[in-house]
Amino acid sequence: MTDWSSHFELLEQQGWVVVDQALPKDLVLKLFDECQFFWQSNAFKEAQVGRGSTKLKQPDIRGDSTYWLNSEQPSSACNEFLNWSQCFRQELNKRYFLGLNSEEFHFARYPIGAGYQKHMDQHQGQSKRKISLVLYLNQTWLPSDGGELCLYSPEHPTQETGRVLPLLGRLVLFRSDLIPHEVCPAGQIRWSLTGWFRTDFI
Ligand code: OGA
Ligand code: MN
Repeated sequence: MTDWSSHFELLEQQGWVVVDQALPKDLVLKLFDECQFFWQSNAFKEAQVGRGSTKLKQPDIRGDSTYWLNSEQPSSACNEFLNWSQCFRQELNKRYFLGLNSEEFHFARYPIGAGYQKHMDQHQGQSKRKISLVLYLNQTWLPSDGGELCLYSPEHPTQETGRVLPLLGRLVLFRSDLIPHEVCPAGQIRWSLTGWFRTDFI
């Protein structure tokens, strides 16, 4: 596995970090293929905003569709990724003593023009999410295609601290409880694998 120490240092200092080529390129390409397969199979669902009975489709706020990975699917790249994520969770625990004990991931597809307005991942009732991870799956993406992930300061949520293009194999990690962020409108269909490392107490 990659030497994570310098990346973890940045994650600690600024609350987020971008890592290119953290996963083998052939795995990233296979994940993209499987993601396309789930999309073709109509397995994606339009994302909703809110929780429980207050869940609503609000495409102006959040315009993506998602497909949740599960460990029972006979899909090799997803399972390989889930295995990787379990090892990675142990690395996070060694460094931060967070006691992370589970993870969840979905593929996300933003159609042209869609984005996700500024939000935090640890909204009400979701304090179990501690570290957010996004892996981008876009093979051709130009700066003019927009669709950046914009990260903001925890103390000054209007102050942008980072702007990340969703390039193939690029991984972003950030603190789910601290970092306001948004997905700018995408000029191409935008694919990613997004998820959270969590603390769930049994
Ligand atoms: C999310 C999210 C960021 C991205 O799904 O909660 O913020 O860059 N995604 O796709
Ligand atoms: Mn988010």
